[in-house]
Amino acid sequence: MTDAASYRYSTVAIVLHWLIAAAIIGMIGLGWYMSDLANTDPSRFPLIQLHKSIGITILLLSVARVIWRLMNPPPPDPPMSARQAGLAKFVHVSLYVLIIVMPLTGWIMVSASPSGVGTILYNTVPWPHLPGLSTLPLDAKRQLHEPLEFVHSKLAWVIIVLLGLHVAGALKHQFMDRDQLLARVWPGLFGRTAGPVRKTRGALWAFGGAILFFAVVAGMGVVDGHAARAVGPETPDAAKASPAPVWKVDPAQSSIVFKAAYMGRAFSGKFDDWTANIQFDPDKPEDARIHVVVKTASADTGEPYFDDSLKEGDWFDIRKNPEAVFEVNEGVLKDGPTQYEATGVLTLKGQRFPLRLPFTLQIDGKTAKMHAETSLQRMALGIGAGTPATEQDDKTKEWVKDDVALVVDVVATRQ
Ligand code: HEM
Ligand code: HEM
Repeated sequence: MTDAASYRYSTVAIVLHWLIAAAIIGMIGLGWYMSDLANTDPSRFPLIQLHKSIGITILLLSVARVIWRLMNPPPPDPPMSARQAGLAKFVHVSLYVLIIVMPLTGWIMVSASPSGVGTILYNTVPWPHLPGLSTLPLDAKRQLHEPLEFVHSKLAWVIIVLLGLHVAGALKHQFMDRDQLLARVWPGLFGRTAGPVRKTRGALWAFGGAILFFAVVAGMGVVDGHAARAVGPETPDAAKASPAPVWKVDPAQSSIVFKAAYMGRAFSGKFDDWTANIQFDPDKPEDARIHVVVKTASADTGEPYFDDSLKEGDWFDIRKNPEAVFEVNEGVLKDGPTQYEATGVLTLKGQRFPLRLPFTLQIDGKTAKMHAETSLQRMALGIGAGTPATEQDDKTKEWVKDDVALVVDVVATRQ
């Protein structure tokens, strides 16, 4: 009987191995689960945000792990054939590559996503899109989306196959060769070992490197940050700092309308009380700043029954949340002669949601006419979560439709 367990991996390597292993296995399950959910499912949006948060955490831990591995060689191989050693090495190197590449493909995919939805790690730290991708024209994004999704999804299968080989190898060592290999990565549970071969070093490099990487990306805008900083904390200073001219909204000719359906019957409503601060220079759309504040109590459907329910806790909850805010702090993108898109943050009932709003803009002298239409899923936004889209026991019977169309028309004059 050989004894591979004479030496074990360092504690840091062991902890990182199991943390990352558990996270990756959980993430594959979560990835499958959330992508099978209907678009209208209210848990889909928060689960995707969680998936992205854990994925970026895996990326950071993996950066630390690879640096640590380079600075701390593993214990010597147990005796085995050259072929076996070669296979083990191939699987280990591939797994190292994948724990970095897998989250990277996720990051690339969401950076180039046509929806422009941003990432806020654990609902706290804005994580930017990769430079150059979030600013691609919409058509290019649409073309890229499917191949990127394909790669991200198929790489999960590559991990599964390699993990199968990896676990089979570990079990063969443990139970057929009886060389106590598992004790090298799980001392205590699988037997006693001597400590690592050498004194460990490089904690500062490994964790300092990962933290620096995080700080640079999250904090300093090395990446373009267009969409993700737009979903970041409020930056009123940025709004003041823009040199773009101010436009004054004409309330008489402007409206924010929503269209929904109740038990199969369409109805529409508008907000009577809202203000918008707009700074915009047609030649420099990247300087645009938009700040819209809507008084939630002013929702008016023309039907008192709807208006009363809309004020309640499950819907707009006007007492606790008198205002809904939409803000664009990082400019807008120009997609065509009169076609633009704004990616900003919608704050509803204290929660912040990234929102992409394509719009057309016609400028005639000092007057601009803006028109935007988009579709929102009210459940994902936490509006009327207690009122399902269809009846529980008969899905063909509509209750309050999840899709709500938002139509915004603004007429403004340049100051
Ligand atoms: C996705 C999950 C996993 C990944 C990404 C992963 C990755 C790795 C990597 C890269 C190494 C090489 C460490 C080095 O030499 O620097 C390693 C070693 C090891 N892993 Fe995993 N692992 C995973 C899951 C597992 C599981 C479930 C087991 C349990 C059977 C396991 C058992 C081992 C063992 C015993 C070693 C030590 C091999 C040796 O001493 O040469 N791993 N793992
Ligand atoms: C090691 C880390 C990761 C693993 C193992 C993983 C795994 C998966 C899996 C298995 C799926 C389902 C694919 C399918 O439908 O077949 C998925 C979907 C997805 N992942 Fe990841 N992922 C990781 C990291 C990331 C990261 C870092 C991001 C973004 C920052 C991300 C974003 C997404 C998105 C947006 C989807 C698609 C959801 C949908 O539209 O249905 N993933 N992931």
